[in-house]
Amino acid sequence: EKAQIGVTGLAVMGRNLARNLARNGFSVALHNRSQARTDALVAEFGSEGTFVPSTDLAGFVESLEQPRKVIIMVKAGAPTDAVIDELVPLLDKGDIVVDAGNAHFADTRRREAALRDQGLHFVGSGVSGGEEGALNGPSIMPGGSPESYAALEPMLTKISAHVNGEPCCVHVGPDGAGHFVKMLHNGIEYADMQLIAEAYDLLRHVLDLSPAELADVFRDWNTGDLESFLIEITAEVLSQTDPTAGGPFVDIVLDQAEQKGTGRWTVQSALDLGIPVSGMAEAVFARSLSGDVVRREAAAGVLPGPASPKADVDRDAFIEDVRHALYSSKLVAYAQGFDAIRAASEEYGWNIDLGAMATIWRGGCIIRARFLDRIKEAYDRNADLPSLLVDDYFRDAVASGQEAWRRVVATAATVGVPAPGFSAALSYYDGLRAERLPAALIQGLRDLFGAHTYRRVDRDGSYHLEWSGDRSESTQ
Ligand code: 6PG
Repeated sequence: EKAQIGVTGLAVMGRNLARNLARNGFSVALHNRSQARTDALVAEFGSEGTFVPSTDLAGFVESLEQPRKVIIMVKAGAPTDAVIDELVPLLDKGDIVVDAGNAHFADTRRREAALRDQGLHFVGSGVSGGEEGALNGPSIMPGGSPESYAALEPMLTKISAHVNGEPCCVHVGPDGAGHFVKMLHNGIEYADMQLIAEAYDLLRHVLDLSPAELADVFRDWNTGDLESFLIEITAEVLSQTDPTAGGPFVDIVLDQAEQKGTGRWTVQSALDLGIPVSGMAEAVFARSLSGDVVRREAAAGVLPGPASPKADVDRDAFIEDVRHALYSSKLVAYAQGFDAIRAASEEYGWNIDLGAMATIWRGGCIIRARFLDRIKEAYDRNADLPSLLVDDYFRDAVASGQEAWRRVVATAATVGVPAPGFSAALSYYDGLRAERLPAALIQGLRDLFGAHTYRRVDRDGSYHLEWSGDRSESTQ
């Protein structure tokens, strides 16, 4: 009896995906470079379903029914290429290779083209939800040929998370589309976390609230528009106490945020596409700054700022203001994220259904949130929405919160608590809605020092002024 699908790479994510498949009734071939992991999986969880373990890759391939479906779950980059190189000679035309790791979408495009040349299908699939999600229902973002998705769909939609009966798994588009959308998910995850951290920091310093009191604030926020997995776990982390130090857990954690690279990739890709993703960029930069110990130590206690961050504000009113600032900034981050997906979809011809992406993220993934339904509805109302921020729902949400948002950014600046996410988001919002931007002056400067030309508001064409001569205008 051959297995219906195989998983190679049985570290925690691979192991949990394999168990999820088996628990849902699919027979799963298993392989891992060191056999101990395969044995451990079968010994511990063998009773959960049908597992077909193999000691080497050839045996693993042999144990699969055709056309074969192989999920690779190893580290992104060279380790993924190594497994693909070893696997490909063992496969037959029509077989499907799924990379479920956090690959860079450009690598996925390259691998998909290479395997397509050999008659194989390569599916770069985003999988979000961490260990828990992989086991009990992740959000799945597969990219690749429609035929390969048709073959995988029954399994992927069965093991994914579901919201209102709908699977959080949709075919994103060809080649790198799935991994691009997963990368954007992570960029938004970075922005979301940075905004939550700023809200926490401001409330803690301005109002002098304890982490336990702040946990209650986040718990309360989680009953409204902000309801989301990240807000929920923020309350959990803030209410944790450290048994050895006896105080709040958050106070004994080193304040240097690490990153494995997907947030940085998001920002790099958006720069290439020319799409402002300032919320995500500030989140990546804030992590970098937090880890820049040398400069932080040189500056702490040396660079002057306000004497105390405490401000004379009404407690409940300020909490409500910060809630608005957080929600509005979050809407900006999502609007920017969807702009980047739309731009990439156009650039690479992916034809991505933006509303469907919101559906995938409603459950299973790290950024799962109530308001993703609102994004889906916005694209249902208008598939060609130029920006999420101009949709009625989002426009009204920001309209009702923008004064509060401005007060929070002003307070942060006054008391000296850094809020790069809140303020960058607000600047983007004001830039977006401005009737006229100072870009006109920049164009004038460019024309003066480099004859880079400018366009006029009243006539078509490109123009240049003889700045060092008679200042006459010529058409270029
Ligand atoms: C997910 C997560 C996951 C990612 C972590 C860590 O969707 O399940 O995005 O893929 O690995 O969020 O990312 P950093 O280490 O870069 O913070």
